[in-house]
Amino acid sequence: MTWVPEKPYNTLPPPPSADILETKGVLRASIGASTALAKLDQAAVSMRNPTVLINSIPVLEAQASSEIENIVTTTDELFRHIDNESAAADPATRETLRYRTALRVGFSLTQDRGLTASTASAVCSIIKGREMKVRADPGTRIANPGTGEVIYSPPEGRDLIMDKLSGWERFVHNNKVDPLVRMAAAHYQFQAIHPFSDGNGRTGRILNVLMLVEANLLRMPILYLSRYIIDTKNDYYQLLLAVTAQEAWEEWVLYVLRGIETTSLMTLRKIDAIHTLQADFGHRSRAISKGAAHSEFQSLLFEQPYCRINTVIERCDVSRPTATSWLSSLAEAGLLRDIKVGRDRLFINREFLELLTRAEPLET
Ligand SMILES: Nc1ncnc2c1ncn2[C@@H]1O[C@H](COP(=O)(O)OP(=O)(O)O)[C@@H](O)[C@H]1O
Ligand SMILES: [Mg+2]
Repeated sequence: MTWVPEKPYNTLPPPPSADILETKGVLRASIGASTALAKLDQAAVSMRNPTVLINSIPVLEAQASSEIENIVTTTDELFRHIDNESAAADPATRETLRYRTALRVGFSLTQDRGLTASTASAVCSIIKGREMKVRADPGTRIANPGTGEVIYSPPEGRDLIMDKLSGWERFVHNNKVDPLVRMAAAHYQFQAIHPFSDGNGRTGRILNVLMLVEANLLRMPILYLSRYIIDTKNDYYQLLLAVTAQEAWEEWVLYVLRGIETTSLMTLRKIDAIHTLQADFGHRSRAISKGAAHSEFQSLLFEQPYCRINTVIERCDVSRPTATSWLSSLAEAGLLRDIKVGRDRLFINREFLELLTRAEPLET
């Protein structure tokens, strides 16, 4: 049966085998991508304080991946509410913070028991804030938001979808296919199955990172691939569709490999810039106050770019007057920005936030 956009694609086939996926061009591109990814992984684990990256990249990834689905918030809001996703934050901020939680939970599930279809359900449930089971009702469509024209209709029927998900899970663990090529093909496959009524895009982008973790290519969940996807959003949609409509696997896989490479190189540049800023920030702090150059305190200001007095008290084991004086002296000198949120004071490391959010050139 040939595929038509308006009819549930119940005959969706599994991804093809390695000899079809791994064309010459794909193999060449996978070398560049895996080299860049290995460098990123190494640089991240070699950081003096990797927590700085573990705390920040998933927030940026959550923001970008949610923005692809038109759930829009700012990094500022995200960091401001990072410890209390249920409190004062607006709905988009809460949903985006749940994405970050889902990434963290998915990471530990993958380490504990591997990546399975049930990991996907768990991740989607956290993103959506309610239990998400595989679709049972018909009618899910991917449509052009402007015109309403149906672009793709995923398979229907819970048993059929479960069956396709088992096939997806087998493919995820098919060691005959290069792991990066496998990640690309598995992402298409998951989106084409579209197992849930909503949250498939975001769940699938978390699964990408988890696949790399399971394949031992990434020891921390710090691939910021959604930045690339936002910047090339039309290609993302068009190339997904072209796999269905024209079996254009090579173009799709090349697109994802290019994303892995450029994102890894971009994040490597950010890691360098973070090191430079940390050293410089430390020097400037010392010139202002010897106490404020305390190494735990300095680490904390980068692990939590929105910092509270209480956090300093606990982390550095100092009195309230000492913590207040360190933070205030840096705020007076302009190194931190001091804002009031309710009864609390927050001290913002805005140079670090600027570094995190600035657009790094994407080209390799
Ligand atoms: N033609 C297509 N075929 C398969 N998947 C597609 C196609 N076009 C878009 N998608 C995927 O569908 C996702 C959106 O699905 P949705 O369930 O709404 O996810 P979310 O709730 O995370 O928004 C997109 O992010 C993309 O990954
Ligand atoms: Mg959606």
